[in-house]
Amino acid sequence: MESYTQQMNFFGNTNPDELLKKYGSPLYVYNEDILRRQMKRVAGILTSHRFTSNFSIKTNSNLTILRMALEEGLNADAMSPGEIFALKKAGFPSERIFFVPNNVSEEEMQYAIDEGVILSVDSLSQLEMFGRLCPGGRLSVRLNPGVGAGHHEKVVTAGKKTKFGVAAQDIPKVLELAKKYDLHIVGLNQHIGSLFMDFQPYLDAVSNFLHYAEDFPELEFVDFGGGFGTPYHKLEGEAEFDMESFKVAFDHLLTEWKNKTGRDVLFKMEPGRYIVAEGGVLLGRVYAVKENFGHRYVGTDIGMNVLIRPELYDSWHDVEIYRDGKPLISSEKEVYSVVGNICESGDIVAKDRELPIVKENDVAVVLDAGAYGFSMSSNYNNRLRPAEVLIDHDGNDRLIRRRDTFEDLMRNFDV
Ligand code: LLP
Repeated sequence: MESYTQQMNFFGNTNPDELLKKYGSPLYVYNEDILRRQMKRVAGILTSHRFTSNFSIKTNSNLTILRMALEEGLNADAMSPGEIFALKKAGFPSERIFFVPNNVSEEEMQYAIDEGVILSVDSLSQLEMFGRLCPGGRLSVRLNPGVGAGHHEKVVTAGKKTKFGVAAQDIPKVLELAKKYDLHIVGLNQHIGSLFMDFQPYLDAVSNFLHYAEDFPELEFVDFGGGFGTPYHKLEGEAEFDMESFKVAFDHLLTEWKNKTGRDVLFKMEPGRYIVAEGGVLLGRVYAVKENFGHRYVGTDIGMNVLIRPELYDSWHDVEIYRDGKPLISSEKEVYSVVGNICESGDIVAKDRELPIVKENDVAVVLDAGAYGFSMSSNYNNRLRPAEVLIDHDGNDRLIRRRDTFEDLMRNFDV
């Protein structure tokens, strides 16, 4: 029997043990073939309409991965000037970047304007700010249609209880302000939330959104946002997002709208997780195994500073155990919590999991860590953020970001 990572040949010509010896532990490892497969899938979602897929760089801002996205024909969306900066460094031209910020300062907005990057505003205040900075300018408006979706309340980004977007009922005020500053609203965008496996709510949101589009005569594009899910419970057989059926239904809906309204706009999407989650795993070394008051713990260096999703959203990540370079597959199992090395009792990456009998020096492989993994990591407890390594198409490993050093922790103090 093979493990999931073995089936995928995730580690190419090497294995988790060798990788940790070579690059240090913990370690993010990406597989180029899986990343490119997903990039190709999103690039080709719509073939019979004008369409672009943005890569949402908040999921993963490693320069090598950004360059891959560029090569695969993706555009990108950024949430902050720092993300625009990284995209430009990776080689994205301004016209392939869409800035979708929230509550930015004048300086930050001006940065995007100066870089020639089109942006969306997500409140009347920010619309007015844009009008003052760039009268006569072109922009997009992020609408909040009043309904959202997502895997946890913290990732629902539309609906009556979130800070995002201009409430759809304020469209008349948007049009008034646009007139006041002679602005051209050339785009409308939304993002209802993150991680759905059933695409019907997304399609409902798309068709609802298209009604609003009819109020904007100068529209050049409509951006429906991201949120496409990843099967995080794959070891229990969870199926992947059904992209083929989604494509058919999505295409049909857009064709109907175009036929009905006679409008021809560029359609955009902003998937993030779907592109990079499965192409990344997080490796950590087991340094302690213990039983406390009847609970078994696997003590690793995968702290919440390295992967915070389980602590922040109770997110599930499957875990495999490797020993001496090979996956440990045994019918004899115990229930363990896999924990990190951070000074918090909530520092639990995987709670109460059935795993083969774990020993010190084994390697824990946390699956589906390519999205919102490294990008949300921190130096809490003055821990070093890990290195990132790519397994390329030929199965060879290559460092794509070095690990932090102690000097990095001190860098901003030499003032
Ligand atoms: N576009 C916008 C405007 C967004 O706010 C987001 C995510 C995306 C696109 C990409 O969404 P995706 O396709 O990756 O679901 N840290 C959380 C997710 C936060 C999502 C924030 N916005 C997590 O780890 O689950």
